[in-house]
This record gives sequence, C-alpha cells and structure tokens, in this order.
Amino acid sequence: MSDQKIPVLDLAPATEDFRAQVIAGLSRDPKTLPCKFFYDETGSALFGKICELPEYYITRTELKMLHERGVEIAAALGPRIELIGLGTGAGTKTRILLQHLDSPIAYVPVDISKEQLTQSTAEFSRLFPALEILPVSADYLNAFELPRPIRRAARRVVYFPGSTIGNLEPRNAREFLRKIAELAGAHGALLMGVDLKKSKAVLERAYNDNAGITAQFNLNLLARANRELGADFDVSRWRHHACYNERDGRIEMHLVSSSRQKVHLSERSFTVEPGEHIVTEFSYKYSPDELTAMGKQAGLCFEQLWSDDEQLFGLFLFRVEDRA
Ligand code: AVJ
Repeated sequence: MSDQKIPVLDLAPATEDFRAQVIAGLSRDPKTLPCKFFYDETGSALFGKICELPEYYITRTELKMLHERGVEIAAALGPRIELIGLGTGAGTKTRILLQHLDSPIAYVPVDISKEQLTQSTAEFSRLFPALEILPVSADYLNAFELPRPIRRAARRVVYFPGSTIGNLEPRNAREFLRKIAELAGAHGALLMGVDLKKSKAVLERAYNDNAGITAQFNLNLLARANRELGADFDVSRWRHHACYNERDGRIEMHLVSSSRQKVHLSERSFTVEPGEHIVTEFSYKYSPDELTAMGKQAGLCFEQLWSDDEQLFGLFLFRVEDRA
C-alpha cells in the first residue's frame, strides 16, 4: 500500500461558493467574511507561522500534551481504532497521536486544504504502511458522508484538534458535536483540543503578535478575494484588529477600514465607511465545565481532560452516550 499514490477525495467548496459567500458577507451589517476561507496556500503557510509564534501558545501546548501524555491518551482510546481527523491541516498533531496508538486500522483525515492533505497523506503512508488512509478534502462542517475502511475497527474515534470548535457560535458548536456523536456511532469517542478561558491579556497577545503575522493572515482574506474573485480591495487601507469579548467569551478578529472606500466584486459595489469593521473570525474559549455541559447536550459523555500546568489548553475525551 505504501508506494501507491492515495487519491484525495475532493469535496472542497468551489470558487463560486467563495464568491457567493463573500458577496453575502459584504451585504450584511456588520460585514462579515467566513474564516474558513483563510486557508488558501498563502493563508495555510501564514497559519503555519502563527503556530510557531511565541505569543500563540495554542498549537505548542496541544503538541506538548500529545508528546507527554500520548501513552495515556492512546490507552484511553484503545486498540484497532478508526481515527477520523477533522481539520487536521498539515497533520503534525495526528502524526504524534498515531505514533502512540495501538495498531490503528484506518485514518480518515478531512481538511479544506487539498495541498496539505496530499502532502500529509504521502508522508503518513510512508510512516504507517499498515494503516489504511482515506483522505477527504472538504469543509468538514458538511462532510459526513465519509469513505469506509476495508477492515473493521474496534471503534471510531473522531479527533478534532486545534480548538477549531471555537470558530463556531455555541449553538452551532453544540449542533456540530451532535453530528460528531452520530458520526462516531455506538462505542465511539471524540478527542477534542480546546482553548480554555484565561486572562484577557494572554488571549489578546496571542492574536496580536509582535511580528504582525496574524495581521497578515487576516488581511490575506482580502488579497485572496482579489486574486481568486477579481475583487479590488485596497489592502493597504485595512488594518487588523483582535480583541477579547469577555461577555461572550470569544476573541473577535476584525478588519477595520481606515477610510471611506468602495469595493467592487462581480458587478456589485460595496461602500465602506471609515472605521467600519468586517468581522472575519470568532474564536470562542471554554471552561471545562462549559464544555462538559455542551457535550452532554450533544449526547457526548465527558470522560477525561488532559491539560497543561497553566491550564491554557485542554484535550477533552468524550464517549458517545449509549442510546436507551
Ligand atoms: C485555527 C481556529 C484555532 O482561533 O486560534 C489563529 C485560528 N486565527 N490566529 C484560532 C487563528 C488567528 C485559530 N484556529
């Protein structure tokens, strides 16, 4: 199996979907742009850099926990599992998890970035020759028709890393967890990396790095719309803004217009006032109690939490509740 090229099943949203969503977002008040479009080639590379920033503790902490507690985590998941990775990107975290697992049967990575999937699949098939790999390029929010492995696994475990759950409004997050519970099925489990609530100062630093990489990442959304859709955002007249909204427990990323300007896209024109914001991302933070309660409502029973010394980040293990 190791020398064959494994094809990526491509269900990724098309350019026309991007166009429609940008038009819809710019027509709203306040204007919005969906954060899933951050991850084109440039954006994925910038996000890779964010993960290495001294201020951005999220990725580093999850990786450290997988290294240090991998044996324990693998024991809790059990042998011969099918691992489904949602939004696993370059696959750095999943690789460590897989290295600790006892004879995993199959790995189904689902990610919006086809480039990263192709690369990580080639790498993983060399590293784990006995593993059946079924990569799917899709917006994982809608990808619940996943390919089935040939061999029968002891259970399905969904790994949802990187605190991506934080991008969803709590209502949608709960709904999404419910879908995950259904996907994992009887005896299934969810291992989920979640950024925990903490001081405003630490959170705001993580989204306002000194090197300005997060600003570039945010602004790339406009550059991408220019490149792919022929929009005419003047990127120099927008600035990055990120703040922690304590009441709602979320980081908000915005792009702020420095002047009155017009943006053209597909025969439409959008007027922007000076100081007007485009909301580009929410990143919700949870306490362990909040997350346990949300899991419960979604049919997921909290089993275990691995966290770091400073309680910056949590790896939560849930099991699918037995149906009565
Ligand atoms: C990939 C959604 C977890 O919210 O921290 C990083 C994305 N945005 N810096 C996050 C992100 C700005 C990230 N997630």
